[in-house]
Amino acid sequence: MHASQPRCHRVIAIDGPAASGKSSVARELSRRLGFVYVNSGAIYRAITWHILQKKIHPEESDRIAGALRVAGITCRLQDNESRILIGGVDPGEHLRDDPVNKSVAGVSQFPVVRQLVAKKLHEDAQSHDLIVEGRDIGSVVFPDTPYKFYIDASPEVRLQRRAAQGERDEIAIRDRADSLRPVSPLVIAKDAHVIDTSHLTIQQVIDQIIGLLKKMGLPI
Ligand code: DC
Repeated sequence: MHASQPRCHRVIAIDGPAASGKSSVARELSRRLGFVYVNSGAIYRAITWHILQKKIHPEESDRIAGALRVAGITCRLQDNESRILIGGVDPGEHLRDDPVNKSVAGVSQFPVVRQLVAKKLHEDAQSHDLIVEGRDIGSVVFPDTPYKFYIDASPEVRLQRRAAQGERDEIAIRDRADSLRPVSPLVIAKDAHVIDTSHLTIQQVIDQIIGLLKKMGLPI
C-alpha cells in the first residue's frame, strides 16, 4: 500500500459499513469545510462496472489486473467532488446498478485493485484537502491522519435507508465480505471517533463531527 507516502494536505477519513449515512455526511461536510469530497467506494464501483463491461468474471483476478493495466483511470474535479473516469468514460449513472452492487465487494478484495485505488487517493491528497469516505481510509490508506470517523447505524436502519433509495442492495452480504476479506477489511481504526447515526439527523452528525474537529485543533 502507499500508507507511508508523504501527504501534503489534510485528510478527514470517514469509514463505515454500507448505508450507514457516510456519503451524505461526507458530502455535506465537504460543502461546509471546502475540502474536496472523494467517495472511494465509487472508485471500486467504477472498476467493477468496467470489469463487467469487459465481460471479465469478478473472480478472475489475473484478467482484472490485466484490464486495469490498460484501462486509463483518471479523476477530475466537479463541484468540489472528485469524479472517476475509466477509459475516458464517467460511469456515474451505472455505479449503483444491480450487477455492480452484487460484484463490487468481490472485486474490491483483490490487492491489485486496492493498491490502485490507494494510489489514486494519495495522488488526490497531494493537491487538495480531502474528505474521503470508505472502509479502510483511516485504518490503511491514511493511517497517519488524526481526523478519523467511523459512521455506523443499526442493520435495520441501514436496510430502511437503502429501501428508501429504491435500491436492491444485499448489504448484509456486502458487509460480511467487506469485514472478512484478508486485505484491508472494514475495521474501526483504533483512534477513530465512532458515531452511531441510527437516531441522528445528518445535521446532528455534522455538528458532532465539526465539534470534534475543532477540539482536535483543525482551524475551521
Ligand atoms: O461505500 P460503497 O457501499 O459504495 O462501497 C462499495 C464497495 O466498495 C464496498 O462494498 C466495498 C468496497 N470498498 C472498499 O473495499 N474499500 C473502500 N475504502 C471503499 C469501498
